[in-house]
Amino acid sequence: MNLTTELRPGIDQVGYVDYNVRDFHSYDTRLGATYNAYLIRDEKVALIDTVKAPFAAQLKRNVASLVDLEKVDYLVCLHAELDHAGALAAMVEACPNATVVCGAKCKDALEGFFDVSNWKFQIVAPNESLSLGKRSLTFVPVPMVHWPESTVAYMPEEKILFSNDAFGQHLATSERFVDECDVAKVFEEAKSYYANIVAPYGRQVLNVLKAASGLDIELIAPAHGLMWRDRFGELMEAYAAWASGTYAPKVLVIYDTMWQSTELMAEEIYAGAVEQSQKIAKENPGAPRLDVQLMHCRKTTLTRLAAEALDAGAIAFGSPTLNAHLMPSVASVLAYFQGLKFREKTSVAFGSFGWGVGGPEAIQKALADLKYPALTEAPIKAKQRPDAEALAKCREAGANLANAAWERYLGDKK
Ligand SMILES: Cc1cc2nc3c(=O)[nH]c(=O)nc-3n(C[C@H](O)[C@H](O)[C@H](O)COP(=O)(O)O)c2cc1C
Ligand SMILES: [Fe+2]
Ligand SMILES: [Fe+2]
Repeated sequence: MNLTTELRPGIDQVGYVDYNVRDFHSYDTRLGATYNAYLIRDEKVALIDTVKAPFAAQLKRNVASLVDLEKVDYLVCLHAELDHAGALAAMVEACPNATVVCGAKCKDALEGFFDVSNWKFQIVAPNESLSLGKRSLTFVPVPMVHWPESTVAYMPEEKILFSNDAFGQHLATSERFVDECDVAKVFEEAKSYYANIVAPYGRQVLNVLKAASGLDIELIAPAHGLMWRDRFGELMEAYAAWASGTYAPKVLVIYDTMWQSTELMAEEIYAGAVEQSQKIAKENPGAPRLDVQLMHCRKTTLTRLAAEALDAGAIAFGSPTLNAHLMPSVASVLAYFQGLKFREKTSVAFGSFGWGVGGPEAIQKALADLKYPALTEAPIKAKQRPDAEALAKCREAGANLANAAWERYLGDKK
């Protein structure tokens, strides 16, 4: 099958829609993903980005359906990660007259993946333009959004921003433009993509948004998911909020359990937070509701936990003690959050134990490492089944988390 989508006369999307990927280097792509590549046929012919290596044949077929492969002049590489550069070696081989166009840092990164000794390169400097005839590409580096060599390309004549990973989403669809789909779903996936891939680099993203606000844009063509041809204000606002870590009114209770004692504690924290959210709603008619979610670590993917945690103001983390330590599922959430560098969240550690210290204490220590302010100096603990006193502590912690999340939300609204 070959299938391409025209953006403008002579500019087509020729990448691959991957309905079957479910694990994208640990990102749970439950809705599939796409690797977008763009072919520009002007006086010169340029291909912007490629696809994952296993789909090189499909990319080649798509390009060849529009132009003789010998006529491809430029293979533009905006980002060396292998979901975009994976098929570059195959394209270099298939397009004998093509020069690889990229920044110096990108060439370095490509050398780490491929034997490039036979490749022709044209290195572009930051903000340099490459003329294709009637149209041109200006290369703007966006370092650490999300790799050192990450670059976007702007085509002023058509007002198109080829944004690579920025503004992308992981979902496979037959439509290729956001406005042809359920827009709320696209925003949800864009947010998940941001939380899981881009979040550690919020400061750099804010710089990119500042630079982008000066560009006249009619189309954003990312390397994943659907293309944006409207709602730019909404998209930039959403990205700015995610990059600044703006709090939503939200509390998460994240836990694992072996024999349900820690689960009883989690449910009580959840109930305390929900009860308090009902009080807050009564006192603030018309205001948004405080969202409280109970999330079992082994039944909720890390991808979803991160997407929900991005804008939460308060989180409870619970684990029983397992072999004098915490459960591996909870450890992996804490380790994942450590790298994602979300804005701080008011937190509490809790869990059940049999005979010694371990799970709850390890969480308390992890909260200090995360620099999440802890509600209580020591974790809330229960020996085996939580008694009335332990449950009361959990209920109270839930209410306090709800109040803390509400305060954080109000603080950002000021
Ligand atoms: C495989 C296994 C290992 C355990 N290791 C410890 C331990 O090292 N120290 C401890 O205090 N309790 C240990 N326990 C006991 C549990 O922490 C205790 O039963 C707790 O109440 C379990 O909470 P849960 O019902 O939320 O799973 C262990 C239990 C299991 C099943
Ligand atoms: Fe990437
Ligand atoms: Fe990517």
